[in-house]
Amino acid sequence: MRRWSILAAAAAALAMAWAAETVTDPKPVAQPVPYSHKKHLAMGLQCKSCHTNPDPGEVMGIPGVKVCMECHAGVKPGSPHIQKLAKHAADKSEPAWARIYLIPSYVFFSHRAHTEAGAKCEKCHGPVATRDALWREVSISMGACMDCHRQNKASNDCTFCHEARQ
Ligand code: HEC
Ligand code: HEC
Ligand code: HEC
Ligand code: HEC
Ligand code: HEC
Repeated sequence: MRRWSILAAAAAALAMAWAAETVTDPKPVAQPVPYSHKKHLAMGLQCKSCHTNPDPGEVMGIPGVKVCMECHAGVKPGSPHIQKLAKHAADKSEPAWARIYLIPSYVFFSHRAHTEAGAKCEKCHGPVATRDALWREVSISMGACMDCHRQNKASNDCTFCHEARQ
């Protein structure tokens, strides 16, 4: 990423704080397979059954199709959607899930640091367990990060979330 002057960066930060939007796109995102969080969580699965937050804890991760096939080898094998999953499993490939929550690589973020500080999934991702399809219904803009840091007395120093530069 290009370098910026302190002034320009501070101005950009202010503008972004003012522009902290809440819903960036209220339309559910199309996925290669119509996986429903609502249906699967109603069966008693937990977030961590699929989103395992492996060390060092930055990402939650998207489950591999192997996890799906633990049930779907036997559940609805005749469904065209499940056949698509079975084909991926046989090919050792993964469905091309469209990403919903994504921040640029120049921003530090750790799921584990936030869950250990008590933040619930729903705070940053909305009521996922009631959704058939997901969309970015909660803002993860710089302004939104900073609002919560302010409320929780976490640091808003630029270098807390960005690498130091000069
Ligand atoms: C049976 C496995 C499974 C369970 C259980 C599950 N998820 Fe997911 N999750 C997925 C799959 C598959 C995707 C990718 C497809 C999609 O976005 O709907 C996903 C995507 C997501 C995403 C969007 C990721 C991105 O940025 O693209 C979020 C947020 C999420 N899950 C949160 C949760 C939460 C919170 C729970 C518990 C309430 C949960 N999930 C339980 C399988 C699961
Ligand atoms: C704990 C067992 C279990 C796991 C794990 C599981 N599913 Fe399911 N899934 C089910 C059941 C049960 C149904 C509902 C079947 C019905 O409607 O009768 C279902 C339904 C579906 C359907 C709808 C199929 C249709 O045509 O009606 C899709 C798509 C699906 N699952 C995708 C996935 C994906 C993707 C994963 C992995 C991320 C996954 N499932 C993991 C049990 C599971
Ligand atoms: C403090 C806000 C926050 C909390 C709490 C949070 N997330 Fe996230 N989540 C994010 C951000 C920001 C991203 C984008 C991360 C990136 O692009 O590096 C993300 C991305 C994801 C993804 C996409 C894959 C990945 O690992 O980047 C999944 C899945 C996900 N979150 C699930 C969950 C689950 C499940 C929980 C609860 C156990 C949870 N999140 C709690 C903010 C949060
Ligand atoms: C739910 C409120 C909340 C939201 C939303 C939130 N944070 Fe945080 N964040 C915290 C708290 C609380 C801490 C813990 C501070 C501490 O450990 O003293 C923290 C800590 C951090 C840390 C330091 C983690 C570590 O490794 O010690 C970074 C970096 C960070 N947040 C970045 C972000 C970014 C980037 C976003 C937006 C994508 C974000 N946060 C959104 C509450 C939040
Ligand atoms: C709590 C975490 C956090 C803090 C503190 C923070 N930022 Fe950011 N910053 C972010 C996130 C997240 C993004 C990416 C936003 C996006 O892509 O929507 C970002 C993006 C940026 C960008 C890129 C804007 C663009 O559109 O290209 C600049 C410049 C920036 N930050 C400067 C700063 C400066 C200067 C400070 C200190 C005043 C600061 N940031 C403090 C989280 C933070």
